[in-house]
Amino acid sequence: MAQASMGLIGVGTMGSALALNIAENGYDITLWNLDVSTVDALVNSAGDLAPKLHKAADIADLVAKMSAPRAIILLVPAGKPVEMTIDTLIPLLEPGDTIIDGGNSDFRETIRRTEKVEAAGLAYLGVGVSGGSEGARHGPSMMAGGTAETYAAFAPVLEAIAAKFEGDPCVAHLGPDGAGHFVKTVHNGIEYADMQMIAEAYGVMRDMQGRAASDIAPVFKRWNDGPLDSYMIGVTAKVLAAKDPKTGADMVDMIVDKAGQKGTGRWTVIEAIRMGQSASIIEAAVGARVLSSEKTTRDVAQPLLSPAGEDPVVQVSESDLEAALVTGRVLAYAQGFRILLAASDEFGWALDYARIAEIWRAGCIIRSSMLDDIASAFRGDLPQGRLILSDHFRAVLMDNVGGLRRVVSAAALAGVPVPALSAALSWFDTIRKARGFTDLTQAQRDYFGAHSFLRTDEDGHHHGPWR
Ligand code: 6PG
Repeated sequence: MAQASMGLIGVGTMGSALALNIAENGYDITLWNLDVSTVDALVNSAGDLAPKLHKAADIADLVAKMSAPRAIILLVPAGKPVEMTIDTLIPLLEPGDTIIDGGNSDFRETIRRTEKVEAAGLAYLGVGVSGGSEGARHGPSMMAGGTAETYAAFAPVLEAIAAKFEGDPCVAHLGPDGAGHFVKTVHNGIEYADMQMIAEAYGVMRDMQGRAASDIAPVFKRWNDGPLDSYMIGVTAKVLAAKDPKTGADMVDMIVDKAGQKGTGRWTVIEAIRMGQSASIIEAAVGARVLSSEKTTRDVAQPLLSPAGEDPVVQVSESDLEAALVTGRVLAYAQGFRILLAASDEFGWALDYARIAEIWRAGCIIRSSMLDDIASAFRGDLPQGRLILSDHFRAVLMDNVGGLRRVVSAAALAGVPVPALSAALSWFDTIRKARGFTDLTQAQRDYFGAHSFLRTDEDGHHHGPWR
């Protein structure tokens, strides 16, 4: 197939960065944005790369300016804007052209749109792009879904612009239609969990140890040289050390504690539950953002619902906090990969878990040194296909879970909320318990609804002697 000419719609922060990355790798690219002034600004500031960037007046002009076959990347907000852009493009494009959705689209929408676009004789790729604007500019991690042929046609450009981990491009064809966007959604679910657990560790140091952000920053900086080595721990150290230019206070102290969200964390939880999976750590993180937005209620509730006298404070050590985050991170990845496994079964995707871990090793928001070990674990012989049962992660969990236990207990006694770390610990304690408590649940179900139960000593369905 001839090399497609490249186009990009949605020249915001991410789009501008990706356009420069594509141009730097030798490709010409035609650009259009609803607010065309952003394209002017990009071209004017692009220096040596400016001759590779071509401006279009509108979508029809963009298509006309490109030679066939065309590949048009969409970096517009998920939802209606993607749909509207596709609907505008379909009648303008011709067979052999491809639309590439590089946004955080819901994978179900991607499945539907693939069908619609293919029915019009065009090709479609749903590509999850991670790494923020820095990643888009210098190398994102990319998770692609679509036909093998369509992916193969764009593999050279995607591999050129992708982040590299020891030379290996962090991009892969993960399956048909929605597979790439599903994996990106779960990536974001893990991102939510990891961010929340980090925030909880910060909260314990701030509220139980009375430490200032600027005093907590070096702790994260030090942790970044150990098993927690990762992009997000590095970011945390930097933002905690930052000062507000207006007041000189620690910047984080000037920020209202209401967290936004665009939906990918919530989708991970919804899809997990729909498939009968627990995403409890991710759910705790989504819930924490939801509750954070109830700022007024929290302001009213604090004096009303705080018992008289101080909550007992059992201090925790920095090494316990580090161990808690190591354990929580292993378990959040484990939950994420369990959800991927369930989706792979349900949608027949045959996801390659080792490859997914490999393409997350650089460029993306959840990149961490742990992912190399996760990839190795999946390439090896995994009991039950479960990460937590690999020799490596079993040892990590055994070494660190005590720290998580002490942090969660101490925080509970002090009344400091650590919902994601608690969820991680409960998930761990549940999954490692051979005989749980749902024997009673089954008895109750049989009592009020004659739902029957399995016996420990006989086959078949049974009822209890309740009446
Ligand atoms: C990434 C990020 C990016 C973005 C998400 C999460 O991988 O580069 O996940 O896609 O940060 O949209 O955003 P919210 O926190 O607003 O949901």
